[in-house]
Amino acid sequence: MGPDLTNIISSKAENNARTFIKYGTGKMPNLHLNDEEVDNLVAYLSWIDKTGKSEVNDSNIHWTGSYIIK
Ligand code: HEM
Repeated sequence: MGPDLTNIISSKAENNARTFIKYGTGKMPNLHLNDEEVDNLVAYLSWIDKTGKSEVNDSNIHWTGSYIIK
């Protein structure tokens, strides 16, 4: 459905993630969230980011989109 977001805040500028969430892209739908909802999601993703490092990378994503964690 979409990429792993575990470390999205530390791996890209926060404003980059904020823009995706606010406006979507050609592939991700615009969720029509207000600024407070976007702030809350960014705060949530920042908290998730501090829980550890995701082991999902391109080499362990199956062609079906499923993650293969060894
Ligand atoms: C609260 C819900 C969601 C949040 C917080 C969210 C957040 C994000 C973020 C931050 C990115 C950028 C990832 C990057 O730069 O690597 C992203 C990308 C993406 N998301 Fe979402 N997303 C949400 C819901 C969805 C939904 C509902 C879909 C599809 C039905 C979706 C599909 C995608 C796709 C396909 C991408 C890649 C976009 C591209 O490369 O153009 N997302 N999402």
